[in-house]
Amino acid sequence: MNQKSVYILGIESSCDDTSASVIYNGKVLSNVVANQEVHSKYGGVVPELASRAHQQNIVPVVQQALEQASINKSDLSAVAFTRGPGLMGSLLVGTSFAKSLALGLNIPLIDVNHMQGHILAHFIDEEDTKKPPFPFICLTISGGHTQIVKVSNHFEMEVLGETIDDAVGEAFDKSAKILGLRYPGGPLIDKYAQKGNPKAFKFTKPKVGDLDFSFSGLKTGILYFIQKQVKENPNFIEENLVDICASIQYTIVEILMDKLKNAVKHTGIKHIAIAGGVSANSEIRKRLQLAEKHWGWTTYVPKFEYTTDNAAMIAITGYLKYLNNNYSDISITAHPRLKVTE
Ligand code: KG4
Ligand code: ZN
Repeated sequence: MNQKSVYILGIESSCDDTSASVIYNGKVLSNVVANQEVHSKYGGVVPELASRAHQQNIVPVVQQALEQASINKSDLSAVAFTRGPGLMGSLLVGTSFAKSLALGLNIPLIDVNHMQGHILAHFIDEEDTKKPPFPFICLTISGGHTQIVKVSNHFEMEVLGETIDDAVGEAFDKSAKILGLRYPGGPLIDKYAQKGNPKAFKFTKPKVGDLDFSFSGLKTGILYFIQKQVKENPNFIEENLVDICASIQYTIVEILMDKLKNAVKHTGIKHIAIAGGVSANSEIRKRLQLAEKHWGWTTYVPKFEYTTDNAAMIAITGYLKYLNNNYSDISITAHPRLKVTE
């Protein structure tokens, strides 16, 4: 097989973004993402609407990805798709599409674990991004997951700790909802926090195992605090929005950094990567830079467009599997609860 010209089409449809990407020998040629506006007025993803929107988006999104990559379907070496974890109705759209396309083109089909995809996005060939050496620690922070993973090889991963309740992205989004901000609120909290004082308000950090996370108590603490303040001053949120956002963000990032410090202590590994939607957060990026300076860590932060859900991360994972001839059987089905180690 000529490994000099491997074109992988990646398809991502696990939640509310329909995405397709073409990767050529590890380099991104296209990465098209169609966001679904339809959910914002409901304050969260509505699974049935997500599935319907994927059905509408998938053909034009794939078409656009091929066009931007300036290739034809017939040039593809394999089709990679997100098998799980995610919403069943959403996953089914990408899975069925990928299966039909691979079958029609008579090329290999490759199933990809979405969480592995977030982590392996670090192996996309980019001029100005360094790839982490094995073993490294990856803090995977997204809307559905919060995990500390020891990555010993591309496909050898061990979960060292994870959330016992809400994911960190949910903590951002639910806090934003309490403040009346639209979904998804994480990026908005980040935006307002830039202008605020992170020490203005103090929220209690949860007490859980060394490498585990818990965010539901923090969310309740924020809710009670806001309710109490608004009772005394109905304009409390408007008058203090930037300080509230900065304080929430500071507390959440403190929790993440505490856990990373514990992971370094437990494993002795100082190569630290972050992945997932919340790794777009400016405060965590800042804090990791400081950790390089003060604690001698080497940190790896994905390029912004590979943090939130995207198909380039699925395509690169597919590419790495392709190099190992690790293909899927056409009878494969979507798996909404797939674990990162599966
Ligand atoms: O990885 P992702 O796109 O989807 C999942 O697989 O869950 O992550 C989405 C999450 C949302 O909760 C969103 O609010 C959060 O990532 N997020 C952020 C930022 N950008 C996205 N949270 C904090 N700060 C950001 N800048
Ligand atoms: Zn994700």
